Amino acid sequence: MMTNLLQIGGITAEMRERLETAFTLHQLDDFDADSITHVITNGHDGLQDNLMASLPNLKVISGYGVGYDAVDVAQAVRRGITVTHTPNVLNEEVATTALLLLLSCYREVLRDDAYVRSGKWQAKGNAPLTRSVDNQTVGIIGLGRIGQAIAHKLSPWNAKIVYHTRSKKNVVYTYYDDLTAMAKDCDVLICITPGGPSTHKIVNAKVMEALGPNGTLINVSRGSVVDEAALITALQNGALGWAGLDVFEDEPVVPQALRDLPNTVLLPHVGSGTVETRAAMGALTVNNLLQHLKDGTVISAIPECAHI
Ligand code: NAP
Ligand code: 8YV
Repeated sequence: MMTNLLQIGGITAEMRERLETAFTLHQLDDFDADSITHVITNGHDGLQDNLMASLPNLKVISGYGVGYDAVDVAQAVRRGITVTHTPNVLNEEVATTALLLLLSCYREVLRDDAYVRSGKWQAKGNAPLTRSVDNQTVGIIGLGRIGQAIAHKLSPWNAKIVYHTRSKKNVVYTYYDDLTAMAKDCDVLICITPGGPSTHKIVNAKVMEALGPNGTLINVSRGSVVDEAALITALQNGALGWAGLDVFEDEPVVPQALRDLPNTVLLPHVGSGTVETRAAMGALTVNNLLQHLKDGTVISAIPECAHI
């Protein structure tokens, strides 16, 4: 008999094909709660407390993404349910996205592209000058797998890397335990922590003011890490210079005020969104489920579930 898998959110055709060799897939509008032992979901939808509580025989939640702030981890641990995610396979892609946003803000790529397309180059002459990305002080908030990949990717621009985390790491970069103090010393802040309560709005008005009118904020972590209302005010009144954002507080809703600002570059949460990287993430998400069926183990449990 096939095992019953609840599918939350989209999966690729390749993932479906492999899953259907071992599971009967059910959608959210058509499943028998008692029969579900496995769930596949993603970083955005996760698995919230009520739905998880309604699945009495759940054993594994396999997440298509590394962040798991949308999963009720406390309930999973309490019930002995293993949560898996997709660390490492997306490090370089998300780091590239951070760099893409940084370069786009500094070199005003969107403004200059519009300058050419609109005919202004021909009508008005050369575009205004932009800023050099070389030799900047870049503060990374969250120096984990992806944060370290960002630091490496910045080396051609001769960046001075500093970082803020809860615990000091064994790295050559300068550590700040105080985020506002780090922001004061930086040209750029890049957010790449997990979401969740411990990072909720840690980039607040005070941090943005410390980063200052010539400062650039890049967020490729979670929208919840930045106080979005304070960000809009700071960008509108010039307290902060630029923002490059891949993530937002209430995705896919992006406040009109942010969309109207000329000093922002906005992406629709595509940090890992290339064919190659999504294929690697998809393979790991499916492998976790298939391995669990085979021998009861998984490849990449989240740290909180490693003991289960
Ligand atoms: P990771 O290896 O676990 O690194 C997380 C880092 O954040 C660690 O250095 C950790 O250090 C630090 N951190 C955790 N809580 C913190 C806090 N309260 N204050 C300051 N620093 C804190 O995770 P990762 O694989 O690099 O992924 C990071 C996050 O990126 C994911 O959780 C996800 O939310 C986001 N992400 C976004 C995209 C996208 O598409 N935009 C794609 C992938 C991942 P300490 O524990 O010492 O504080
Ligand atoms: C995914 C992400 O796009 O891995 C993460 O944490 O945010 C992204 O890679 C997201 O999980 C949706 O699948």
